[in-house]
Amino acid sequence: MKKKLVSAVLCAAMTATMLAGCGSKPAEAPATTTDTKTEAEAPAADDAAAEAPAADDAAADDTAAEAPADDTASGEVVTIGFAQVGHESDWRTASTKSCQTVFSAENGYDLQFVDCDNDSAKQIEAVRGFIQQQVDYIIIDPIVSTGWDTVLTECEEAGIPVIVIDRTIDDSDKYVSWVGSNFKTEGLAAGEWLKAYAAAKGMEDVNVLVIEGSTGASATIGRTDGFKEIADAEGWNIIDSQSGDFTQAGGQEVMESYCKSYEGQFNVVVCQNDNEAFGAMEAMKNAGVSYGVDGDVVLISFDACTAGLEEVMAGNITADFECNPLAAPFVEDVIKTLQSGGTPEKEVFMVEHWYVKEDILSDITVNGEKQELTVVTQEIIDAQY
Ligand code: AHR
Repeated sequence: MKKKLVSAVLCAAMTATMLAGCGSKPAEAPATTTDTKTEAEAPAADDAAAEAPAADDAAADDTAAEAPADDTASGEVVTIGFAQVGHESDWRTASTKSCQTVFSAENGYDLQFVDCDNDSAKQIEAVRGFIQQQVDYIIIDPIVSTGWDTVLTECEEAGIPVIVIDRTIDDSDKYVSWVGSNFKTEGLAAGEWLKAYAAAKGMEDVNVLVIEGSTGASATIGRTDGFKEIADAEGWNIIDSQSGDFTQAGGQEVMESYCKSYEGQFNVVVCQNDNEAFGAMEAMKNAGVSYGVDGDVVLISFDACTAGLEEVMAGNITADFECNPLAAPFVEDVIKTLQSGGTPEKEVFMVEHWYVKEDILSDITVNGEKQELTVVTQEIIDAQY
């Protein structure tokens, strides 16, 4: 693709964005889960077109049906650099696969993929490498939310549009679009669910241990803040909150130390992703602590990947708050919009569902909006990523 065209596209998009006064952080309350995921809505794991989830943004509705990127249609390959966080979780694997499927050679793309191994310096270096290669677009899933303005200015000066996915960038607005989840809403949903569940089960005291995600990641910050808001309002006791780095090994290590330090003192464990929950389950099992719907400890998780939902259905994870990793079709939509001279949405929120095994509650109210709880079935698991 011609560099001049990209520069013009970037200038137009940036100008339009500034004129529209965009550049704010993601809105507090995306329209999320008033509907239950049906079979027709569910993504099919190996099919890029069917992979497109329903985002709550009009720009995202027609992705699967559209033709490939304009340059592809004219026979020119579109080069994309993708600086991915790493490979720490099932969620990350699904995110990588989504991008590699959508931005494949057969779809007319040359995807330069860098696994940054959860190393922020390596991620900045990867972006600079893409600038040197003069790629057409750069996709960044920011490991941490700060420290971005300098390198994004370099991208802007090179005329390369940047699209941010999943986690947010909080100290720079020099990107065209962001596609991802409202992590604070996920944390609020977990808190609202626990509030309703504790009341329904007659739990008198709520004593919580939190296993956070990676420090400085907006996914960690949002989920922590959202859950804490409800915990503070309800007067729950958050006994401890430590990072498990979004990994199974990290979750297990933190939970092993919690089991020793707080034996008999906790009845809720909040893991900020499924892989941490798997590690925490192993640690609790080894320590003789029962968890899940029939256990002594309520186990809350985030992501709701296939393996997480299997644990929900088995009754081991009590509730799982989805974080949808299938952003790539919407990123392609952004690219097509740019190539046709349009202005993409500054923010595109993924639709997410809240999963449970028991149907003692049918819905919760989050941000003043009623949201359904979805009871996990085998059909849902089979359609999940
Ligand atoms: O940024 C999204 C988070 O990162 C997911 O919850 C987690 O699994 C991943 O590693």
